[in-house]
Amino acid sequence: MKLSSANINVMVKACRKASKTLIRDFGEIENLQVSIKGPGDFVTASDKKVEKILIDELQKARPNYSILSEEIGKINNDESSKWIIDPIDGTANFLHGIPHFAISIGLEQDGEIICGIIYDPIKDEMFIAEKGNGAYLNNQRIRVSSRSNLKNCIIFTGGPKKESQNIELSLKEYNNFSSKVLIPIRKLGSAALDMAYVAAGRCDGFWQRNLNYWDIAAGIILVKESGGFVTDFRGENKYIENKTILVTNSKINNEMIEVLK
Ligand code: IPD
Ligand code: CA
Ligand code: CA
Repeated sequence: MKLSSANINVMVKACRKASKTLIRDFGEIENLQVSIKGPGDFVTASDKKVEKILIDELQKARPNYSILSEEIGKINNDESSKWIIDPIDGTANFLHGIPHFAISIGLEQDGEIICGIIYDPIKDEMFIAEKGNGAYLNNQRIRVSSRSNLKNCIIFTGGPKKESQNIELSLKEYNNFSSKVLIPIRKLGSAALDMAYVAAGRCDGFWQRNLNYWDIAAGIILVKESGGFVTDFRGENKYIENKTILVTNSKINNEMIEVLK
């Protein structure tokens, strides 16, 4: 089985093209061939190159759609259809030669994400989903896990960043979850892949504060189409406004909300 609507095909093509640059640049980082300006500048340049390829491809195919992308911000066109782009999610991993990062693109239509792609170019894992048509990993249907007892689950989080205003709160949440689970909490460094892994049943639940729309846009539809839940920490729908996101296999949603109270 394969997802192959017109919009999905556009996103897949853009990702495949941009990933060639991303893989080449990651190779340079691994071999320490980065410019004298230093790895930080090199990664910023990669981010921008990848973003440009994605935007050029998406605009070629859908010239009237709007864009929200991490590095360049907004391109306003027809507001009813918008690409939400994170050219590299997991930049710190990329910078340090850790092969765990992804391109993430969501398509928002009339305020709702209807398609999403998260592509890990190093593992060649492409997670795609479309509203009503399911979620897939490299053309195989994916489902969330069925674990229903938080204690036996593997859960992910990210942050807090140094500049975060909720450091204490985030650490408290971390402590609270740590006392509930047998397997220590994972922090893999890419929120987009964290959500894709919940969709694929590799991870049972994920929570994080202060993520941006581009970090989570594609993940939202992947998780929903694979049978999972995406809410804020209270179990409500305001995860974008509240900047708190809880992503689960649905079975442990209530238990995770209790811990976050
Ligand atoms: C970051 C990653 C990371 C999360 C950070 C994000 P970036 O995105 O998703 O997992 O903890 O909050 O900013 O900067 O690598 O695109
Ligand atoms: Ca990101
Ligand atoms: Ca990014």
